[in-house]
Amino acid sequence: MSGVAFGVDIGGSGIKGAPVNLRSGELTEERFRIETPQPATPDAVARTVAEVIAHFKPKAKVPIGVTFPGVVQKGVIRTAANLDPSLIGVDLQGEIRRHARRDTRVMNDADAAGYAEYQYGAAEGKDGVVLMVTLGTGIGTALIADGRLVPNTELGHLIIDGKDAEEYAAESARERHNLDWAQWAAHVNRYLQEMERLLWPDLIIIGGGVSKEYEHFVPLLNLRAPVVPAALRNEAGIVGAAAQAAEAARIAAQHAAHTG
Ligand code: BGC
Repeated sequence: MSGVAFGVDIGGSGIKGAPVNLRSGELTEERFRIETPQPATPDAVARTVAEVIAHFKPKAKVPIGVTFPGVVQKGVIRTAANLDPSLIGVDLQGEIRRHARRDTRVMNDADAAGYAEYQYGAAEGKDGVVLMVTLGTGIGTALIADGRLVPNTELGHLIIDGKDAEEYAAESARERHNLDWAQWAAHVNRYLQEMERLLWPDLIIIGGGVSKEYEHFVPLLNLRAPVVPAALRNEAGIVGAAAQAAEAARIAAQHAAHTG
C-alpha cells in the first residue's frame, strides 16, 4: 500500500485519530485525542469524530476509516456492548458525514486491529488462519484467512461455562475479580482452547492494552498454535481503520473503472 489515509478510533474513554503512512503503517503525525462524550449519544459521538478529523484537515482524496467497539454493517451500528445502547441501529457513517462533511468507512475495532497486524505487524503477510483477540474492557476478535478478513466475528461473546467469555477472560475481568496473573491466564487459556477447538488457527495474536504485559501471562498459556503479542499496540485501531478505508477506496475505484 502507499500514500496516506486517516484513522479514527472510537473507544469507551477516548476518541483519537491520526494520519497513517500506508507503506510503513506508522502515524505521520502525533495522534489527537478527545474524551468520549458522556452520554455517548450518536450525535455527540459523530460530532467528536468530526472534531478529531477537523484537527488534521485531511485532503479531500484521503480515505478515512473509523473504528467502533461493536458490530458494524454498512456503516450501521448493530451492537454496542460497552458503549451507549442508543447507538444501536444508528447509521453512524451517515451521522459522521453530516457533521464532518466527509465520507468515512466505519468498522469494528478488533477487525481494524487484526487487519493492521496482518498488513504491518505480528501477522504480516501470513498465510493460513490468523486469529486476533483483543483483551480490554471487552474481548474483540478478528479472523483473517489467507489475508481476507471475515468481518464482525463476535467470538468474545462465546458462552463458556454458562458465562459470556468477555466477563470471564477480558482484561476487565482480571481487575474486577482481583485475579493474579496465573489465575487470569487460566481463564484466558480456557477461552483460547475453546477457540482452538472450533477454529484451528495457525497463529493467535493477543492485542489490547494488556498485550504490553504479555510476559506475565502468555508463557503460561498451553495452546496448539503459537501465541504472540500484537506488534502495533495502542495505534492498531487507527492504523487498521486507515488501511481498510484505503483498500476499500482502491477496490471502489477499480470497480468504477471497469463499469464506467
Ligand atoms: C464487542 C466487540 C468489540 C469488543 C472490543 C465487545 O464487547 O462486542 O464488537 O470488538 O468488545 O471492543
